Amino acid sequence: MAPSFEELRVEYRSAPLEQTDLDPDPLVQLSRWLDAAVAAEVEEPNAFVLATAGEQGRPAARALLLKGLSPEGLVFFTNYRSRKGVELAANPQASAVFLWVPIRRQVRVEGFVEKVTERVSDEYFASRPLEARLASAASPQSEVVESRQYLEQLLEDLRRAYPDGDVPRPTHWGGYRLIPDSFEFWQGREARFHDRFRYVQSLGGWRIDRLAP
Ligand SMILES: Cc1cc2nc3c(=O)[nH]c(=O)nc-3n(C[C@H](O)[C@H](O)[C@H](O)COP(=O)(O)O)c2cc1C
Repeated sequence: MAPSFEELRVEYRSAPLEQTDLDPDPLVQLSRWLDAAVAAEVEEPNAFVLATAGEQGRPAARALLLKGLSPEGLVFFTNYRSRKGVELAANPQASAVFLWVPIRRQVRVEGFVEKVTERVSDEYFASRPLEARLASAASPQSEVVESRQYLEQLLEDLRRAYPDGDVPRPTHWGGYRLIPDSFEFWQGREARFHDRFRYVQSLGGWRIDRLAP
């Protein structure tokens, strides 16, 4: 049974978003909105959805966690042999969406994805809790497996192989950086008359346009 969708209708009453509220640098603006999501205690404020499209051009999207934000772009970590890894190898273009429902905000980011350096991946891997290191090293992410038990066994084997917990980062696990060439900041407003601003690269800087809701 589906819910009664009419009863799920929520009215947004946010403050207006004006072009003058926006930082000229969209990465700074994204950082500000991430801070605001943290301050508003949005759960997993660094979660976003990344869409990729491989050789066939068929889009596939999945949630990920943002682990770095710098002038160079947005960094996340995953298995390079996963579906997203295979798709990014065939087509490095991707689109990311952050959705912060409690503060009625959405940010879209588009651009090209490259692998981060081995050093950045090593450092991040080493910073993870042991269980997370074991899980990402053990899991053949996105592969069909016969059972949960098979996965538990992979984990157990790895735990035994590295009793001191010094499991190395597998070369097929690491980071990617999304280097953005376009952003859109969306603020939900009353009666579905929302505010939207898009940044596109222009003359070495960024041009900001208001978009219709
Ligand atoms: C909130 C949330 C955060 C996630 N973060 C990550 C992440 O940082 N890295 C990752 O590899 N998978 C993460 N996942 C799992 C992915 O959504 C996905 O199942 C996995 O990466 C395999 O995707 P693929 O088969 O399209 O490559 C997360 C899932 C959720 C729901």
